[in-house]
Amino acid sequence: KNIAIIMGGYSSEYEISLKSGNVVYEYLDKEKYNTYRIHILKSKWVYVDANDQEHPINKADFSIPLAGSTIYFDCVFNAIHGTPGEDGLMQSYFELLQIPQTSCDYYQSALTFNKRDLLSVLKPYGIKCAASYYLNLGDAIDEDAIIEKVGLPCFVKANKAGSSFGISKVYQKDALKGAIANAYKEDDEIIIEAFLDGTEVSVGVIKYKGETKVLPITEIVSENDFFDYEAKYQGKSKEITPARISDKEQKRVSELAKRAYDILKMKGYSRSEFIFMNGEPFMLEMNTTPGLTTESILPQQAKVAGIGLSALFESAIIEALR
Ligand code: DAL
Ligand code: MG
Repeated sequence: KNIAIIMGGYSSEYEISLKSGNVVYEYLDKEKYNTYRIHILKSKWVYVDANDQEHPINKADFSIPLAGSTIYFDCVFNAIHGTPGEDGLMQSYFELLQIPQTSCDYYQSALTFNKRDLLSVLKPYGIKCAASYYLNLGDAIDEDAIIEKVGLPCFVKANKAGSSFGISKVYQKDALKGAIANAYKEDDEIIIEAFLDGTEVSVGVIKYKGETKVLPITEIVSENDFFDYEAKYQGKSKEITPARISDKEQKRVSELAKRAYDILKMKGYSRSEFIFMNGEPFMLEMNTTPGLTTESILPQQAKVAGIGLSALFESAIIEALR
């Protein structure tokens, strides 16, 4: 089978996506699959061959015209974090072209990538989240109203972004405006959330052998003030799997992550973030193309569950083609 591994993307997460995509390329069994690295960049869509030579993609049918032959794909392995790989755009394109792809469908991608909309859809199903305040670009910024709603400290986040780009923890009213301006660099919508003082955990859910499977839970201990970009990618955090929470808490948060996955009719990988406060889990977000490097959380969780990288990546293709 011909597998396109798409990586890159149009957002700040571009470099992280290239790392994820290259790990998928390295670990997918080349005896079983013909794998092609495809860079999806704003400036160009190209196939990058084993000699790092670039060949243009025909966007009309996502094929690669090569001298003498044309490559068509049986499946796309999506390793793009952020837009257009995690927000439904690529999903819509492949659905129209009827090419199976490994992440959830366009609607689920668009919904889950929007923190505000995801959390409000899940709330009636018993999935709690922090008190929050929303802004759209151009809205008046009423600092007193924000603080009245979410208190201090609070988190100012880009509503649609990943890898902590655009996120600040704000302790004082006079830092709000700067944090908001910083978040607007990533998105034209902002979500401001109450600080939840507790234990952060990450719950991976995948489709595996046709079933929804919850992976062992990871506890995140950041050396920085929160799990920011440096903590995530420059070693300033400990990620402990399985998390040091009680069996009852493990069961509870696993059940919530699975509930969210099943309610939304998800496919592919998902990694949901929660904070336990006073024994109760609050959801922060869901990631539908989580980091896939050897150090990333979901691959670590799979490893603890006895699923190595090659098996994890192959399972995504088997499920996409099911
Ligand atoms: N957005 C990053 C890649 C993650 O969720 O792992
Ligand atoms: Mg995220």
